[in-house]
Amino acid sequence: MILMLAKGEFDRRVEDDGIEVWVSQQGPFGNVNTAFINRATNTVVIIDPYSAKKWLSALENEGLSPTHIIVTHTHRDHTSGVKNIMKSHPEIQLWGHVESNYPNLLGRVLFRHLDFTHTWNHPVHSGEQWTSGGITLEVTHTPGHAPGHLTFHGHGVFHAGDLLFTQRSGRVDLPGGDSESQWKSVTHAREILKGLPSDWRLIPGHNYEWIDGTERNWVSLSQALEHNLALNSPSLIQFEELDFLRFNDELAG
Ligand SMILES: [Fe+2]
Repeated sequence: MILMLAKGEFDRRVEDDGIEVWVSQQGPFGNVNTAFINRATNTVVIIDPYSAKKWLSALENEGLSPTHIIVTHTHRDHTSGVKNIMKSHPEIQLWGHVESNYPNLLGRVLFRHLDFTHTWNHPVHSGEQWTSGGITLEVTHTPGHAPGHLTFHGHGVFHAGDLLFTQRSGRVDLPGGDSESQWKSVTHAREILKGLPSDWRLIPGHNYEWIDGTERNWVSLSQALEHNLALNSPSLIQFEELDFLRFNDELAG
């Protein structure tokens, strides 16, 4: 089984329910993007597209067009492909949480303002089911790494964005970040993961290092529950001590 994709490569598989799931690693920060595709209804939902060019050409090769973009949060590395995909497909729906457009001036360096066509506005740590064209996702509000952060799960995957990486969780030291919120979001996610089939894939926002030193694009939910250091932190105090929550650099979100 492929676990490490080359930059711009696509892993394509068809889930038991007939929905295709494509996963691609793009850009210098190893951003992992997921798309859900239902050919029967011509519905193509892309999460956090990094490269418009790569997504549009891969889809075009199969006679497909994007119909929805959904974003986990509005950091630039999770939204860099949005503008050009929308330019070539002006009818596309762009969805995110209403709290994810971060207004602070300092934050503008890091965040991109998006003109959402549709927003979710459900409270922190609550979920909302979203359905379109036969694709059904549970949308969970999980702030801490960034305001209005969301995770999406369904069709065999839990797309974690920067809430969780394979072995870590996202940093909390950028504008709008908050370690206690992140801890609560991780704790909430742990309960969700425990309730899902253990062979579903956890797709991280970035392919950062797994326990064996490899940079995987996903691990199974059971592997994440066993080895992810944030998911296995027994308390907020111990979570706060994890060294990957804070860095000295400015922008690697
Ligand atoms: Fe981020």
